[in-house]
Amino acid sequence: PALSMHAIDGLVFEDVPLNAIADALGTPTWVMGARTLRTRYHRLDRAMRDAGLDVDIHFAVKANDHLAVLKILRAQGAGADVVSGGELRRAMAAGIPANEIVFSGVGKTRAEMELALHHGIARINVESAEELELLSAAAVACGRTAPVALRINPDVDAGTHAKITTGLAGNKFGIPYDRAVDLYARAASLPGIHAAGIAVHIGSQIERMQPYRAAYARVAELVRAIRARGLGVEVIDCGGGLGISYRHETEGAPEALAHAIRTELGDLGTRLEIEPGRWLAGPAGLLLSTVVLRKRGYDGMPPFIVLDAAMNDLARPSLYDAWHGIIPLSARDAVAPAEQVHVVGPVCESGDTFGHDRTLPRLHDGARVALLDTGAYGMVMSSTYNARAMAAQVLVDGARWDVIRARQKIETLWECDIIPETLTRPAG
Ligand code: LLP
Repeated sequence: PALSMHAIDGLVFEDVPLNAIADALGTPTWVMGARTLRTRYHRLDRAMRDAGLDVDIHFAVKANDHLAVLKILRAQGAGADVVSGGELRRAMAAGIPANEIVFSGVGKTRAEMELALHHGIARINVESAEELELLSAAAVACGRTAPVALRINPDVDAGTHAKITTGLAGNKFGIPYDRAVDLYARAASLPGIHAAGIAVHIGSQIERMQPYRAAYARVAELVRAIRARGLGVEVIDCGGGLGISYRHETEGAPEALAHAIRTELGDLGTRLEIEPGRWLAGPAGLLLSTVVLRKRGYDGMPPFIVLDAAMNDLARPSLYDAWHGIIPLSARDAVAPAEQVHVVGPVCESGDTFGHDRTLPRLHDGARVALLDTGAYGMVMSSTYNARAMAAQVLVDGARWDVIRARQKIETLWECDIIPETLTRPAG
């Protein structure tokens, strides 16, 4: 495990005492672990190989788009899955070649399609009949051929939070299963389109393998139906979604995923890809924060521990009622007598809560804590709500650490504001 508690140094991530980072930079500060990222990538990669599969791993850039993170994963062999022109440009800026990048998403604009085609994108995952026609026109106009996979909606319940499940027929994602064969035939006939394969992604933070198996079985059925029409299917994009253990969940096992892929799709003779985000990056990051004050609870209710981090930094608890572990940084704090508390941020919304009824050692003002498993969908979902600057970010690599993003200067928050001249002219 990447975290350990040292009697004097306190909480240590990889080989760096987190207090040293907080002393130098203050809080809130995000920390990513390079060694942890590499270890996780290798475990996933090995699981696929051990199952006898040759699977290309495309990191879902939306989970963590920092250039340093992308570079580390790239160095291990990862390609990228992107969902916007911005992510595409980030991935390329980190040195991932366009021909190892897949472009997903329900609303790619013409400009984004052109950008991707211009750079020679490996593939565009098309999510609707409408988008297919737009892409064909865009490709013809710029004299390119777009390699395409149809993202199908297998109508499978991934059993995750409603806001992150994507494979149900009523979701906005993907092409209805029963229209997929006809649309594939249409794709194969359209100018500027090369119909290359099928993509599926059923949701995120998936704990059980059954939904994966059900979705992949439907994909296999579809591939056979398409081939029966005399059309070629070269690639299957198996999506992301593998869950991690935030609290009591069992972490999704790459070996089990590999087994599901091999069992359901292994005999079709296609190239195979996955696009994990959370599983790779989530446990490789944490957020450091300081207790601003401990506010007494009303009439015997639990006290509030008010942190200097807030929902604008880590949005997951307020958006999804997500649970993130919260532990003190100092060994001395960690052994204080426990009490039940609500852990909140300073933003002016009741939803700005990191944990209800947590049992934590009694924390004094100025004590520091780490919010765990924030390496995926953490920093990337930050905002500057309440005119709060974006937090600093650090990369730990074994015993070394570097600042990889400076704390945002507060003036940059209004840098792009324009005051109409009429408001600045003296009256009269
Ligand atoms: N591929 C596609 C097409 C996706 O939509 C996603 C995630 C992934 C791959 C990566 O999924 P992962 O392996 O990370 O589960 N903000 C939410 C999660 C949103 C996931 C959106 N799509 C959260 O914080 O839980």
